[in-house]
Amino acid sequence: MTEHILRVHGGFPLHGKVRVRGAKNLVSKAMVAALLGHAPSRLRNVPDIADVRIVTGLLEAHGVSVRDGDQPGELILDPSRVDRAEAVEVEAHAGVSRIPILFCGPLLHRLGHAFIPDLGGCNIGGRPIDFHLEALRQFGAIIEKTPEGMHLYAPQRLRGTQILLPYPSVGATEQVLLTAVCADGVTELRNAAIEPEIIDLIAVLQKMGAIISVHTDRVIRITGVEQLGGYTHSALADRIEVASWASTALATKGDIFVHGAKQIDMMTFLNIFRQVGGAFEVGDDGIRFWHPGGELRAMPLETDVHPGFMTDWQQPLVVALTQASGLSIIHETVYEKRLGFTEALVAMGATIQLYRECLGGTPCRFGQQNFLHSAVISGPAKLRAAELEIPDLRGGFSYLVAALAAEGTSTVYGVDLIYRGYENFLDKLQSLGAHVEQARA
Ligand code: EPU
Repeated sequence: MTEHILRVHGGFPLHGKVRVRGAKNLVSKAMVAALLGHAPSRLRNVPDIADVRIVTGLLEAHGVSVRDGDQPGELILDPSRVDRAEAVEVEAHAGVSRIPILFCGPLLHRLGHAFIPDLGGCNIGGRPIDFHLEALRQFGAIIEKTPEGMHLYAPQRLRGTQILLPYPSVGATEQVLLTAVCADGVTELRNAAIEPEIIDLIAVLQKMGAIISVHTDRVIRITGVEQLGGYTHSALADRIEVASWASTALATKGDIFVHGAKQIDMMTFLNIFRQVGGAFEVGDDGIRFWHPGGELRAMPLETDVHPGFMTDWQQPLVVALTQASGLSIIHETVYEKRLGFTEALVAMGATIQLYRECLGGTPCRFGQQNFLHSAVISGPAKLRAAELEIPDLRGGFSYLVAALAAEGTSTVYGVDLIYRGYENFLDKLQSLGAHVEQARA
């Protein structure tokens, strides 16, 4: 593959309007949910991103037809011919995405068998799948690990069960939902993740005929049904992309209206954005974010599961925090290696020190494990242009933000990764007045 390279001439404020469509982390799961239905589903507000193409490929490998609908961003998914996939077709998606693991429950219900290749996704921590496998075993699945991946079998109909997650994992919660909806009897999931994308997935499943109730204290109860139908659903907006553009506005001293942004899913971010010194205005069809002038304020910040401050918001905001006056303390509690990207910011002139201790907040799972998961940022720092190699999706976008904020010309390698989660990001940058151009290796 030709590596995509961007030259970024930084030091200019970005101004204008961008449109954010459906959340990558809902759309991909809603596409998998369609596999459970016995009628076609219609998913709207689907962004044109690489992860959607990966899930499309996996669904097609299993006999699901995926085609564009009449309106832009609409997909029609027809699962009437679900079939076992050729191992080679599934393996073609090995190492590029985390989504294949979510095919387990639906394939076990439809075919009694599932083959899952080695998983990929961003390198931001170990990303084990032990919670997924334990839950699937509890439903009655038999799992055989082989060098190329995993074979799962359901010798009889999977049965509802009681599951307590050791940590409110987004993926494991989705795994339980997608499996329990057609299992025999009731499943009670405790310590569930309750991210807005999960609630939207529950809405999708309810439209298909599922019976799911969300209780206080992270408890979700699912009453299995014999069969599900299709759905018509418009995906909730991508709150990670919204925060990415908001942080870009702040770091470049710009002003960006994010069409499609919804206040209700952004509340925790908006509070921090305001405390740092950013300004925003909520409108009917989006949110305007801008730097109001003056100094930004340093902040203590701890990432957490919903309703806490999302880990995916941390990386782009850290770039803006390098411009704030004083000491900001970051405590990353969701992924143990999500601060690795700061090394490049230091090379660009930022003052950031990483620590193994849990700084500034509640002790977390990583405190005793030797992971550099806390950071102290001393600002404001003048950022210099640099040569940057993109490490992961969100870290990669953050490098772009840093390059846009730094005076001079930066060269950013491995930009392909950003297309996994940001639709038309190059066009969007150019429409905001960014001086960026594509080059090829
Ligand atoms: N974990 C385990 N065992 C498991 C599953 C998770 O120990 O079996 C741990 C993870 O190692 C991590 C923590 O639990 O430390 C949280 O992981 P979670 O399962 O919640 O994350 P995920 O489902 O793999 C999704 C998003 C991520 C997002 C997180 C947290 C998708 C495809 N990915 O990952 O998004 O950061 O939830 O909100 O939905 C991104 O979009 O760039 C991205 C990484």
